[in-house]
Amino acid sequence: MRVVVTESAEEFAQRAAGGVVEVVAGRHRAALGLPSGSTPLGLYAGLARRVREGEADLSGATVFAVDELHGVPGDHPATNASYFRERLARRVPLRACHVMDSSAADAAAECERFARLIEAAGGLDLVVLGIGRNGHIAFNEPGSPFDSRCRLVELTPSTREPYAALFGSPEAAPAHGLTLGIADLLEAPRVLLLASGGDKAAAVTQALERPATEALPASVLQRHPALTVVLDEAAASGLSYSSRA
Ligand code: GLP
Repeated sequence: MRVVVTESAEEFAQRAAGGVVEVVAGRHRAALGLPSGSTPLGLYAGLARRVREGEADLSGATVFAVDELHGVPGDHPATNASYFRERLARRVPLRACHVMDSSAADAAAECERFARLIEAAGGLDLVVLGIGRNGHIAFNEPGSPFDSRCRLVELTPSTREPYAALFGSPEAAPAHGLTLGIADLLEAPRVLLLASGGDKAAAVTQALERPATEALPASVLQRHPALTVVLDEAAASGLSYSSRA
């Protein structure tokens, strides 16, 4: 495991973008599993800048959103379909950008379709993840089996909370999501975990320094042979010195 503690938002974004660009440069038709949320916003802005300035080319890359809300029209501003369209696809030429269908009536069939698309792309070359305050990765909430696959899941109140404003109230926020499973995420030969802010410090410390447990999904990542963790000082504040070295 490689843990990088960054000193500024700019360095955080640069390190994260560097991790993506390295994979894309090494494989023209790269398949990338990418997260939504506020943490990777700098990463996507950084990728857009690099592409604009001719330092990177993602036109051969296929993006797969690692999760999506469920039970919401695809064009709702809270969906990852909207997020990836605005933050990435509109700014960066890509080969393709796939997001699960948030309005799919048959969630299992939709997950199957998505899994087949990943398979057809030759599997994910890199998975980038954020982390929830409760240690969730993608929409794999605490208790998710380490051998879980793409599926419909129930969201916890803390995961629904950030969506409350966009839906008018906490009760109106979507109760379900579609997510790649933990086994799907671990299959990627490289994983990049991003965390910023003091509210993530406890989850980060548990994930990296305590034994892996399904109670804290991100802790499974310590078993991955090629994990890079990019943190800001606040998210790293609970780590012992040894895991930063
Ligand atoms: C949501 C997303 C996750 C993301 C997490 C953290 O639950 N589905 O993929 O990692 O939020 O988001 P943020 O970066 O905004 O803290």
